[in-house]
Amino acid sequence: MPDPSLRLAVLASGRGSNLQAIIDAIEQKRLQAILAVVISNKAEAPALERARKHGVPAVFLDPKAVSGREAYDAAILEQLRQHDVGLVALAGYMKIVTRVLLDAYPHRIMNIHPSLLPAFPGLSAQQQALDWGAKVSGCTVHFVEEGVDTGPIIQQAAVPVLEGDTAESLEARILQQEHRIYSEAIQLFAEGRLAIEGRRVRVK
Ligand code: GRF
Repeated sequence: MPDPSLRLAVLASGRGSNLQAIIDAIEQKRLQAILAVVISNKAEAPALERARKHGVPAVFLDPKAVSGREAYDAAILEQLRQHDVGLVALAGYMKIVTRVLLDAYPHRIMNIHPSLLPAFPGLSAQQQALDWGAKVSGCTVHFVEEGVDTGPIIQQAAVPVLEGDTAESLEARILQQEHRIYSEAIQLFAEGRLAIEGRRVRVK
């Protein structure tokens, strides 16, 4: 059964196009969730502005206001609890998540990455795919674990790398798929249909 009461938080550091796709999916009722809060480590992140425009609480937490990553995640956790959040979606969130959040939200933190993991983790995944000469790249939604871009894979979409592609043109083509699969993956979670078996995520 869909759980329309899933309370979602999005953590974003920048542009927020994935956040926007999630907002759109909720408004169009393709995603049964309540966007409870958007949190950013950047005061000027366009993602915060997008949230405000849609009446979603938008919170800037200054990493410089606390000492260390764990303390920062504790501040995030406080916000998540205040907003009664059940699932956290990282969307262009440029900070490493520590045990503080991982332990509080086991297998309830997702991330989206612009490659077919485990290929091309880390920064500039689109440029990495071009530099490697890959013919196909894509995007991955996965549960977050301690490593960078590791964690059980929930959903992937393949995207062709075309002759003459630049990092920007490939990024734009991959983004279209990101915007589609992130909401789909969150909807599967909302419906209670994701079963984690070791590294595998089975869709029930
Ligand atoms: C996306 O490519 C996402 O896969 C990666 O960072 C980018 C964020 O873009 N993790 P946006 O802020 O959602 O537009």
